[in-house]
Amino acid sequence: MSAQIPVSSRAANIEYAIRDVVVPAMALEAQGHEIIKLNIGDPIAYPGLPTPPHMVDAYAKALREGHNGYSPSYGLPALRSAIAEDERRKGWPARDEDVYVCHGVTEALQLIFAAVLETGHKVLAPGPHYPPYMAYPQMYGASTVEYRLDDDDGWKIDLDDIASKMDDDVRLLVLINPNNPCGTVCGKEDIDALLQIARSYPNCIVVADEIYDGLDFTGRQVSVASLSNDVPVISLNGVSKVFYAPGWRIGYMALHDPSGRLSLVRDGLERLLRSRLCASTPAQLGYLAGLTSDRGWMEEYKQRVVRQRDYCLARINEIEGLEVEHPGGAFYMFIRLTDPHWSKDDKAFVLGLLEEEHVLLVHGSGFSPRLGKGHVRMVYLASEEVLEVAFDRIERFLQRHRKG
Ligand SMILES: Cc1ncc(COP(=O)(O)O)c(C=O)c1O
Repeated sequence: MSAQIPVSSRAANIEYAIRDVVVPAMALEAQGHEIIKLNIGDPIAYPGLPTPPHMVDAYAKALREGHNGYSPSYGLPALRSAIAEDERRKGWPARDEDVYVCHGVTEALQLIFAAVLETGHKVLAPGPHYPPYMAYPQMYGASTVEYRLDDDDGWKIDLDDIASKMDDDVRLLVLINPNNPCGTVCGKEDIDALLQIARSYPNCIVVADEIYDGLDFTGRQVSVASLSNDVPVISLNGVSKVFYAPGWRIGYMALHDPSGRLSLVRDGLERLLRSRLCASTPAQLGYLAGLTSDRGWMEEYKQRVVRQRDYCLARINEIEGLEVEHPGGAFYMFIRLTDPHWSKDDKAFVLGLLEEEHVLLVHGSGFSPRLGKGHVRMVYLASEEVLEVAFDRIERFLQRHRKG
C-alpha cells in the first residue's frame, strides 16, 4: 500500500457503536442472510410507523411549489414561531428568537459544543448515553465525564454522583429525558435537584435533550426549561422521533436564559449558524405541518410502542440470562446479560448473536465502556411477530452457550 496521508486524531478516535455493528451485518447480508435488525433508533426502519401523510404532503408540496432555496440561517420564521409556541405549552416563555432550527439535534449538539467548549472544559453527561455526547467534545479539546444512571434502580440519575463530579470546568450538564439507551424518564423532583446542583456553577448550561418527550409512557416527563428560573437551559428537540421523520434531518435548540447569561454564547451560536447557511427548507415546511396540525395520530403510534414494550418485557422475564429495568419512555430497552461469560464481554454477545442467529442488537459498552458494559440495547419498534422470532433466537443462542 502507498504511504498514507495522515488522518486527524479527532476523526480517527470517533466511534458510533449503533452504526459500527452494521458493518459485520452487511457482510452477512452480502452472503444472502436476512438479518433482524433491532439496532437503530429509526422508526422508519420498522414497518407500521410511517411519517404521517399530512407531513409528507406538506414536504412534497413545498418541493413542487419551489421552496427549494436556502432558508434564513436560524430557520423559517413560521417554523420558529410554531416551535416557540410548542415550547411555551411545555411551560416556559420561549420567544420565536430563542429557537434555532438545525439539521437535527445532532447538528445542534455540534454547534453548542463549538460555541461553548475550550481545552480543559468538561461535558457532564449521563452514563450510558447517546454516543455523540462522548464523540464530539474531544474535537474542542474538552472531555466528557459520565454521571451514573443507577442500573439497580430503573436507571435513575445518581444526583450524588453529579454533585461529586461538578466543578467550574463543567460547562455543559446534560440530561436526556426520556433517556436513550435506557428508556428512563426523569420527573420533576430529580430535575429540580439537578438544577439545584447546577445553580452553584455560574458558567454551566444545562442541555436538555428532550427528543423523546412525546414518547413518555409515565406522564412524569417535564421540560427542564419550565422548571428553571435562573439556570440557563438549552432545550433540544425535533422531527426525528416523536414526528417519525429522522431522515428529514430537522431539529432545534431553544435557549432559555432567565438570568441573562447567554448573550455571548447566543452570539457565538448565531455566527456558527450563519456560517453553515441553513437547514433544509422543504423539510422545515414538512415539520411545520406536523407542529400545526392535529396530533391525535401520535397517541395511536404511542399505544403501539407501549404494547410492543410490554411484549418484550414479558419475553425477557421468561428468558434465563436476561434482565431489564422497566423503561418508561422512548423505544429502547437496555437489557442486562446476567451470565458472567457475556456480562464481561457484551460485544462478543452481539457479534455471536449476529453471526449465529442473525439478530442485530448494540453492545451496551458502546454507550459507555464502564456504565453500559454487560448490557445490550434493543429497539422494540419492529412488529410483535418479528420481535417474537428475535426473542426465540436470542433464547436459543443463550441456551446453546450456557456453561455447566
Ligand atoms: C438522545 C438523542 N438525541 C438526539 C438524537 C438524534 O437526533 P436528530 O435525529 O435530531 O439528530 C438521538 C437519536 O437517536 C438520540 O437518541
